[in-house]
Amino acid sequence: MGESAKKPRVTVTRLRNMKQSGEKIAMLTGYDASFARILDRNGVDVILIGDSLGMVIQGRETTIPVTMDEMVYHTRAVAAGVMERALTLADLPFMSYTSPEMALRNCARLMQEGNAQMVKLEGGAPQVETVRQLTHHGVPVCAHLGLQPQSVHKLGGYKVQGRDEAAARRMLDDCLMLQDAGADMLLLECVPVALAERITGSVEIPVIGIGAGRGCDGQVLVLHDMLGISPRAPSFSMDFLQDTGTIPKAVQAYVEAVKNQSFPTDAHCFV
Ligand code: KIV
Repeated sequence: MGESAKKPRVTVTRLRNMKQSGEKIAMLTGYDASFARILDRNGVDVILIGDSLGMVIQGRETTIPVTMDEMVYHTRAVAAGVMERALTLADLPFMSYTSPEMALRNCARLMQEGNAQMVKLEGGAPQVETVRQLTHHGVPVCAHLGLQPQSVHKLGGYKVQGRDEAAARRMLDDCLMLQDAGADMLLLECVPVALAERITGSVEIPVIGIGAGRGCDGQVLVLHDMLGISPRAPSFSMDFLQDTGTIPKAVQAYVEAVKNQSFPTDAHCFV
């Protein structure tokens, strides 16, 4: 393929421009090179090597047992499958970022051994200093707020977050602090539609939603949920394979639905 035919890679700058121009960002999780190639070729902007691999690949109950070595292994596999344009975003697993120093060491692994281009960590205000240190050292960071699956036992289950005004205000303040600390992207999981819209309208960095409504700058789903092969897909997900019949077509249908905002519908949202 000639140089002129190459599609431009998705970068942090491109993601910000997409927010500004109103083009929705399509993100899916991926865990290996074969699926990464399909996602990349069929229009997915960002591939998240999520610690959800603990559940959908390893069959565990939660994401908590996932280790750094496992994250590095799957990140490297996904990066090897991306040939065209998708940006690779890798999760820092449970207890791998309890201090800025530990986060720096583990981000170095995800980026040097795994070839990740951005990292994601869970948490609001308590992670501000870590985000500041990471971005200071050149690590692009996505902060995951709302339902934080690594805290499932502390939260007492997988529940919608930010429902009352005090909790909503706290989440918005956390997002603003994380942006000030240098975060390049936010991810909101299981957040009421109105709060997700309020946060998206209050920050300059892109906001990706999962169970957070159409008002976000983009959407993410767990690959196995959107292919209908998870034993228990959450209510905010949708099976894109059943009407399309092949994996590449299901991925294309998801990307198109995110871009034209026909997904998520009201049925996939919380009020
Ligand atoms: O690990 C993961 O797949 C995630 C998504 C649920 C956003 O963080």
